[in-house]
Amino acid sequence: RGTPALQVIEQADVADWWPALGASSEKYSRGVVGVATGSATYPGAAVLSVAGALAGPTGLVRYAGSAKGEVLHQHPSVIATGRVADAGRVQAWVCGSGLGTGEDSAAELRAVLAAPVPVVLDADALTLLVGGKLADRLRGRDAPIVVTPHDREYARLCGEMPGEDRVAAALRLAAWMNAVVLLKGDRTVIGTPDGRAYVNPTGTPVLATGGTGDVLAGLLGSLLAAGLAPERAAGAAAYLHGLAGREAARGGPVTAPDVAAALRPVLTRLG
Ligand code: APR
Ligand code: MG
Repeated sequence: RGTPALQVIEQADVADWWPALGASSEKYSRGVVGVATGSATYPGAAVLSVAGALAGPTGLVRYAGSAKGEVLHQHPSVIATGRVADAGRVQAWVCGSGLGTGEDSAAELRAVLAAPVPVVLDADALTLLVGGKLADRLRGRDAPIVVTPHDREYARLCGEMPGEDRVAAALRLAAWMNAVVLLKGDRTVIGTPDGRAYVNPTGTPVLATGGTGDVLAGLLGSLLAAGLAPERAAGAAAYLHGLAGREAARGGPVTAPDVAAALRPVLTRLG
């Protein structure tokens, strides 16, 4: 029944990992997360990843990208700039959802990877990595990387689909990229470069709707910026995202903004 290194994530783990807010907590001490997502073509990806980040434990969200107008309209508490280089200090970056794969997008991804902080790479950021031109940036990096592929993004990175053994698949990519891998799907698994693996039990098919992955990436970035170890940030994000999907489904058909909104009651219940 699995290897000893395979851990099924439980509510108690997530409650334990969730950062405690001290009495003197103020917004900067709670961490600042940077979000470099979206584009003129896909502003919704920016809005959704920022929504995920805002639901997390950080005190401030900075947005850098070309969906600034839409992000500020939906989320006035965000500090927004056009480019990553102008964003100011953050403790973690989220990059890729709806970013596009052109030269400008590649330059923004490069700027994110140059920052000495943990990063989440999703969607178009993963596609940009496949070209291989950024491989040196990954190898030379000390700060953690979490990649969040779904099966087809995994196949683009690895050259083959994950197959039946999703844990083994996540661990292969984790070792190869020297990154924590959150392999999304009906059974989301997390693998670390040193061979530890986690399974998320809260997944629900209601999450299979456009944009929920962007919410997950934002939440994960907030947890990284708050100081969680990358595999714990990934495990907690997947677990809470699944619960939010279930919570949202109580109100009828679910869209990605519903999942982001449902993170609030889910976190309240976490205690
Ligand atoms: N059961 C449980 N969870 C699921 C299931 C399922 N059957 N299907 C998807 N999920 C979860 C994944 O684990 C992940 O958290 O829903 C989320 C979907 O994330 P992405 O695959 O990144 O999709 P997203 O980017 O939000 O959607 C945008 O991009 O690649 C396309 O086809 C994709 O239409 C989608 C669009
Ligand atoms: Mg996605």
